[in-house]
Amino acid sequence: MDHFLYKDGVLHAEDVSIPEIAAAVGTPFYVYSTATLTRHFALFQEALDGLPHLVCFAIKSNSNLAVLKTLGDLGAGMDVVSGGEYLRAKAAGVPGERIVFSGVGKTREEIHLALTGGIRQFNVESEPEMRVISAVASELGLEAPIALRVNPDVDAKTHEKIATGKSENKFGIPIAKARAAYAEAASLPGIKVVGVDVHIGSQLTDLEPFGAAFLKVRELTQQLRADGHNIIRLDLGGGLGIPYTRSNEAPPLPLDYGAVIKRTVGDLGCEIEIEPGRLISGNAGILVTSVIYLKEGEGRDFLIVDAAMNDLVRPSMYGAHHDIVPVVEPAPGTEARPYDVVGPVCETGDTFAKGRMITPLGADDLVAFRSAGAYGAVMASEYNSRPLIPEVMVNGDQFAVIRRRPSFEEMLARDTIPEWL
Ligand code: LLP
Repeated sequence: MDHFLYKDGVLHAEDVSIPEIAAAVGTPFYVYSTATLTRHFALFQEALDGLPHLVCFAIKSNSNLAVLKTLGDLGAGMDVVSGGEYLRAKAAGVPGERIVFSGVGKTREEIHLALTGGIRQFNVESEPEMRVISAVASELGLEAPIALRVNPDVDAKTHEKIATGKSENKFGIPIAKARAAYAEAASLPGIKVVGVDVHIGSQLTDLEPFGAAFLKVRELTQQLRADGHNIIRLDLGGGLGIPYTRSNEAPPLPLDYGAVIKRTVGDLGCEIEIEPGRLISGNAGILVTSVIYLKEGEGRDFLIVDAAMNDLVRPSMYGAHHDIVPVVEPAPGTEARPYDVVGPVCETGDTFAKGRMITPLGADDLVAFRSAGAYGAVMASEYNSRPLIPEVMVNGDQFAVIRRRPSFEEMLARDTIPEWL
């Protein structure tokens, strides 16, 4: 469920009309709904009710400070994967004890930053990384709380580019080697073992792989405890999928996901951490764009819009589907027709949809790409020297620009021409 609905024939974000925002900021832009973000976070809180837990929002899905502050103020923790994300969490007012640090390639500088600024735990992905954390913590005279991310060799049954839990993927320590790695961790100075971490992939629409992975974590936890480790937390990662089409998709609900957690690891007496990104932010955002031209090709019509693959890369990168809807609701009975919806970037890959059935549209009409709140703005680039597009947040009948559109001058000012030129 989200809060982007037609009211009096015009698409709204909560109580604000999309054309009103478009008139104020120009197109293209992202717009996020506070009510949807809040609702989705609450669903996870409910799903884990009864277990000690912390819902850590995966910042990589949407890192705007206003989004982070909205969630942080509700009590969310944050899952960060870089020094930049760590600083964003802190800037949004989230205390270090609610921040977990994941990622396969944490540098010494990033480890130093998190240790000195405060961190709940590092999710450690390799033995060499564990040794560096030990060295940096020892130099600082601090103790680094760690969980080892284990790779359970479970097929997440999702797109190959976002599956992470198979042994051929670069993530985590093979579960068969985990006990030896924990033994080494316990012997290292500056390291305090607190938990086990797992994350098997993103956009999972089946609960079975979660159950399989969590059972492996359960078994490992029991072995580790028998080996003398004090395992007090389980970080079960993120990955619960969302519906990208309104019609035929019904992925499992957070409540069902919570039930799997309770059934598999609920009795271990551990504090549970989860790292959802997409389910919280995905359907809390849309991308609004204008039609520049309608070009009638041979046997197909191209709708050329002012957003492009640099603004929303998911269709060209993963072949992802985003529903595309007109901002002004078509009159009942208007027949849809097929369009290839494309951006202005000079690549054939800059195609959002092929043969998509949409009611007739023409130049200057506004259209919205739904489900664009996760992995949208964060993956944008300035390819073709197109400045990053603005982000707007709506809360009831108010809206605010939460990242403004940079000017062309600002974009050019970042380059330097060497003195010999
Ligand atoms: N935790 C870890 C360690 C992760 O690597 C990820 C996502 C998450 C949590 C959050 O997963 P979520 O709940 O959002 O599924 N750019 C891709 C998705 C990449 C996901 C990477 N890791 C896309 O646009 O589909």
